[in-house]
Amino acid sequence: MITRDVVAAGWVVLGIAWAAPPASAAEPAPAAFNNHCRTCHSVKEGDHRLGPSLHKIHGAKAGASSGYGNYSQGLKSSGITWDDATLDKFIQNPDQVVPNNNMKPYKGIDDQAVRQQIVDYLRSQSSS
Ligand code: HEC
Repeated sequence: MITRDVVAAGWVVLGIAWAAPPASAAEPAPAAFNNHCRTCHSVKEGDHRLGPSLHKIHGAKAGASSGYGNYSQGLKSSGITWDDATLDKFIQNPDQVVPNNNMKPYKGIDDQAVRQQIVDYLRSQSSS
């Protein structure tokens, strides 16, 4: 019976939707972020470590996270607004984007797919 199968499939889809966490729940960080960034960065508001909190960093001005006292002059005066392109370039090679930055020791990530995962994560946690 086609109709019965369609109805059953509909219930399955609903079940998956119910099982999913609410949209407002914090998204778990991908392994790429944990491996490359988490020693120095958190995305929790005001949670500054060696590096500034990256809470809502996508769309924010560089060097502007309040309460972080260790920004380099280079970053503060860079005039950057973080978006997909600037974040991607910065985590590929910080020195090329912001000369004399303090993000040390950090070597950059060559793998575009890994950078993409991190940028996607930073964007999604900035919009919630
Ligand atoms: C060794 C510690 C360290 C690691 C690892 C590190 N960072 Fe940073 N990060 C810093 C520091 C320190 C600064 C401040 C740099 C400055 O002021 O020049 C910074 C600054 C930043 C900024 C600018 C923040 C702002 O408020 O403008 C972004 C974006 C950023 N890091 C993203 C990342 C991402 C994404 C990763 C992982 C791919 C990463 N960082 C890895 C220490 C680190």
